[in-house]
Amino acid sequence: MPSEPIKTSELITNIGELMTQDPEHRVLRDAALVLEGERISWIGPAAQAPAADAVTDAAGQAVLPGWVDSHNHLVFGGDRTAEFEARMSGQSYAAGGIAVTVGATRESSDAQLESLARQRVVEAVSQGTTYLESKTGYGLDVEHERRSARIAARVADEVTFLGAHLVPAGWDADEYTDLVCGPMLAAVRPWVSWADVFCERGAFDEAQSRRVLAACQAAGLGLRVHGNQLGPGPGVRLAVEFGAASVDHLNYLEDGDVAALAGTWGAGAPAGELPGTGLGTVATCLPACDLSTRQPLAPARRLLDAGVPVALAANCNPGTSFTTSMPYCVTTAVLQMGLSVHEAVRAATWGGALALRRHVGEDLDGHRAVGSIAVGHRADLQLLAAPSATHLAYRPGVPLTRAVWRAGRQVVGGRAAAAGA
Ligand code: NIG
Repeated sequence: MPSEPIKTSELITNIGELMTQDPEHRVLRDAALVLEGERISWIGPAAQAPAADAVTDAAGQAVLPGWVDSHNHLVFGGDRTAEFEARMSGQSYAAGGIAVTVGATRESSDAQLESLARQRVVEAVSQGTTYLESKTGYGLDVEHERRSARIAARVADEVTFLGAHLVPAGWDADEYTDLVCGPMLAAVRPWVSWADVFCERGAFDEAQSRRVLAACQAAGLGLRVHGNQLGPGPGVRLAVEFGAASVDHLNYLEDGDVAALAGTWGAGAPAGELPGTGLGTVATCLPACDLSTRQPLAPARRLLDAGVPVALAANCNPGTSFTTSMPYCVTTAVLQMGLSVHEAVRAATWGGALALRRHVGEDLDGHRAVGSIAVGHRADLQLLAAPSATHLAYRPGVPLTRAVWRAGRQVVGGRAAAAGA
């Protein structure tokens, strides 16, 4: 039975498929939901929907949570087209290319860097992304890392300090690690809540990575690790040892790495816990990067089967993955990585939120949960121009984002567009 209208509310009704990604993994047909302010206030059958101040007719199409993109490097100048072309002609990816972007980034003005980063965010949002992370890592001295952190904080929802991205030319690796752990960390601290290290041959070795993680943890930052991207290595083990929220890339995993990640989650599914209370390390897979570097795709199927929560992220950066497209990542995960559509969408929404510890809400800073559709969660939604999420894989490459709401505000499309007019 219809109830009283809610003030400043919006009803989205006639939803053909509502893929909630909530703790029960519900997929509802002929559904509706109500947005009130920045939150979701009601979910249920369209026939029982309450009245609201405004109505959007989804015309039988699918609604999903907005994408939560938990791994990006958005603050950079220049591009690396020539390096990409060389790679497509058979040259292999090496971390050294980062230095090219560091040069171009240092030469860019603050306004240029912010404008470029904003354009990348707008591009992501237009494809359904409603929450995203960005790292620093193309400054690599105290002043430029500080600037990168400040700009990232203006455009992204979460900022990660990645001073340990590459040892700049002319530096001794251990002395540069001292700089990262000391003055650079202090300089970026006001703008960042996470720290990351590129633990890889050609970047930071195990001892240096351990020092970076320990210093950043002591400074109160949550941890993430770039690991096992270019070959087997200690990245996963370090992430587990330090209780990192996420280890990202994961192209070369040994059985012990998978078991170690699974061990961080114990036997049960990680639904419902509060951030920081017994959560394990999420496996963040970056399919666009894997394809663009011609590395083996990360073993997302194997990880899920072992009980490890997986996140999918775009990894927008000029070297290995110059895309903001989460739909592309979801499509690849289904077509080439063995995930079901539901698993891939879950990894690109709830999985990303889990990797950022934003899957539950109302934590200390009053932040609402993102990455799933449930009453009380932030109203981050996308309406597809398709009757089901399956079309993301069934119609690869077709732009299917029709409308996007971020914190209850429609930021892409319009009600007319939603009705197919
Ligand atoms: O996540 N792997 C390290 N960092 C980036 C690539 C950086 C670059 O080549 O510019 C990544 O893929």
